[in-house]
Amino acid sequence: MLAGKRVLLIIGGGVAAFKTLTLIRLLRERGAEVVPVLTRAGTEFVTPLSASALAAEKVHTDLFDLTEEAEMGHIELSRDADLVVVAPATADLLAKMAHGLANDLASTLLMATDKRVLVAPAMNVRMWEHPATRRNVAQLQADGVIFAGPTEGAMACGEFGPGRMVEPDEIADAIAAALEGGPLSGRHILVTSGPTHEPIDPVRYIANRSSGAQGTAIAAALAGLGAQVTFITGPAEVPPPDGVTVVRVNTAAEMLAAVEDALPADAAVFAAAVADWRMAAAAPHKIKKLGAGSQPALDFVENPDILATVSQRRSGRPRLVVGFAAETDDVIANATAKRARKGCDWIVANDVRPETGIMGGSENAVHIVREDGVEDWPRMPKHEVARKLAARIAEALAAEAEA
Ligand code: CTP
Repeated sequence: MLAGKRVLLIIGGGVAAFKTLTLIRLLRERGAEVVPVLTRAGTEFVTPLSASALAAEKVHTDLFDLTEEAEMGHIELSRDADLVVVAPATADLLAKMAHGLANDLASTLLMATDKRVLVAPAMNVRMWEHPATRRNVAQLQADGVIFAGPTEGAMACGEFGPGRMVEPDEIADAIAAALEGGPLSGRHILVTSGPTHEPIDPVRYIANRSSGAQGTAIAAALAGLGAQVTFITGPAEVPPPDGVTVVRVNTAAEMLAAVEDALPADAAVFAAAVADWRMAAAAPHKIKKLGAGSQPALDFVENPDILATVSQRRSGRPRLVVGFAAETDDVIANATAKRARKGCDWIVANDVRPETGIMGGSENAVHIVREDGVEDWPRMPKHEVARKLAARIAEALAAEAEA
C-alpha cells in the first residue's frame, strides 16, 4: 500500500500519455496522493481537466504562473513529493534531464528535486536506439534515475521494437518498489570515492587522476536498492549522486576521520584513490624558488590506510568490507595479496594500465577477488559494474542475515 505517499507525476507529450491517466487511478487505489504536472506537449495528448479529475488535485502546467508561484513555488512542489515520476518520459525529457536543462516547469522540477526520480520511457524505436538517447539513458542510470521499461511491442507509429511504455500496473509496481524500499532498505553503507589532495603548501597539492566516476556510480546504485548511503568524497570531477548523504573531504586524514564518524555501517565500499603519501609537514607559506640549481626537498610520510584500518577494527567493523585494487601488473595475484594484507572481504580489482583507458574512462573490466575464488566480469560501463556490485552486496547482506 502507498498510503501517505505523495507522487509528483510529470506527464510528457507522447501518445502513451493516455495510459498515464490509468496510472493516476491505480496509484490512488493503492492509497498514494498524485500531483500531476503536464508539459506543454503533454497537454496536446491529455487535458489538464482529465488529469485533475482523476487525481482530485490541481494540475500544474506552467512555470511562469505567478499566482501559483505565490501559492507553492516549484522548489516546494518538487520536494513535497516522496518520489518524482515521469510517464511518458519522451526522448526530449530524457535529454533535458541528462543535460540539466530547466526551461519549463517539468524540467525545473526535475532539477530542483531532492527526491528520487523514476522514468517510464516511451518513444519510437529508432529514437530509443539513437546514440544520443543511449548516451542520455547511460548518464541518467549513472545519476541514479530508476527506469521502468520500455518494453517491445507494436507502436502507434506502426513500427515494432523497444520503446513502448510499460503498462500502468507495471509502472505502479515499480513506484511501489521505489517507495517501499528495495533489498537494501534499512541498511547503512559507506562509500569512499574520488582522489585525495595532500597539501604541499597553501597553493600546491599532490593528487591523482581518479575522476570519482566508479565510486559515484556505486553510491547511486546502492541508494537505488534502498540503502542509506554515506558518500565520503575527495575533490572528484563527477558530482555526487542524489539521495545520499555527502561528506566532502580533501586529505586522506580527513577521509579516515569522516569514515570513523560515519560508522557503524552494515557494509563499506572503499573506492577512493587515496594518496599513499602526504608531506611530513605542509609548508605554512608558499614555497618560493630557491635560486639556480636548488630544488626544494619534499619530505613524505605514509598516509593512514583507511581500508586496512576499518577492515582490522576489533569492534564496529562493517559486516562486509569491499576494497579496490588498481593494478598495472599481475592484477589477480596482487589483488589477492592485497585482500589478505588489508583484511577486507572482497577486492574489486582492475587493470589501470593507460592503454586500457579505464582510469578516467566510462568503462571498467573488473575481477571480484573473494576468499572462495575470483570472478571475472566482462568489460562494461562503470554504472553497470556499480549495479552488479550493489546487487551482490544486497545478496551477501541478505545471506548473512539469514545465517
Ligand atoms: N586505500 C585506503 N587508504 C589508503 C590507500 C588505499 O583506504 N591510504 C584503499 C583504496 O580505497 C582501495 C584500496 O585501498 O580500496 C587499494 O588501493 P591501492 O592504491 O590499489 O593499494 P595500495 O594500498 O595503495 O597499494 P599499492 O599502492 O602498493 O598497490
